[in-house]
Amino acid sequence: MQTLRNKVTIITGASRGIGYATAQLFEENGARLVLTAKENLDALDVFTSAEKVRLDLTSEDTIDYLVKKTIKNFGCIDIFINNAGVFTHKDFELITAKELTEMIDIGLKGPFMLLQKIVGQMKQQKKGKIVNVSSLSGRIGSSGATHYAAVKAGIIALTKSLARSYGKHNIVVNSIAPSLIETDMLKHITKERLKNLIESIPLKRLGRPEEVAMAILFLASDTSDYITGQTLCIDGGLSML
Ligand SMILES: NC(=O)c1ccc[n+]([C@@H]2O[C@H](COP(=O)([O-])OP(=O)(O)OC[C@H]3O[C@@H](n4cnc5c(N)ncnc54)[C@H](OP(=O)(O)O)[C@@H]3O)[C@@H](O)[C@H]2O)c1
Repeated sequence: MQTLRNKVTIITGASRGIGYATAQLFEENGARLVLTAKENLDALDVFTSAEKVRLDLTSEDTIDYLVKKTIKNFGCIDIFINNAGVFTHKDFELITAKELTEMIDIGLKGPFMLLQKIVGQMKQQKKGKIVNVSSLSGRIGSSGATHYAAVKAGIIALTKSLARSYGKHNIVVNSIAPSLIETDMLKHITKERLKNLIESIPLKRLGRPEEVAMAILFLASDTSDYITGQTLCIDGGLSML
């Protein structure tokens, strides 16, 4: 069964990791894809029927182009997966103003501006599904990446705010909070620290991008129509109460 048959879907950061696995799963499920990368556009060539767009979340021009191009080619946006992001690991007192600004620009300001344009289109359509990729650190904090955690907490607040504001337009907005998923992002964590972190996970292993993609599929599909404003943790049990 193709759960997302003909659904026009934008996935940001689809060249690697979680975004790539999500694009694969969505393609298998019949979605019509618009995929973005910042540098690695070649990695998107495997998605033969997808539209490929260069997006840099620090550039308003590329944000604007992505939305205009999608509407021009497909006439609507059914699903938006707000996935692209960056991570750095640094002590709180050593983070410079430049590094903080960069984290906020890529992780919060860019997605915020993209969401403004996408929500405007979904409002006209009187429907839409949005999945924001936050992080467990946005819920429980992170001692080694405070700037990242602060930005990801912002994404959760943005999710709830949009869910409250746009429910009446039949737009549902949820976020996911993964933790320690096997992607390039983990290269920023030392082997020793990673080993200790894995010990603290009840399932005693890292998560796989495909496992995150399954949760995104659930939140993007009609199966979850009455769920909005929620944050689903995908963390091997790390954050359970
Ligand atoms: N992996 C984890 O453990 C983990 C845990 C919690 C949350 N997350 C979140 O999950 C999302 C995906 O992470 P991932 O682990 O899959 O990351 P990843 O493998 O490092 O991939 C990052 C993606 O974002 C794109 N990107 C980077 N900088 C960008 C920019 N300035 N503008 C637009 N796109 C940009 C990259 O494009 P290029 O390939 O072209 O550079 C790539 O497609 C992120 O929001 C991340 O914060 C990940």
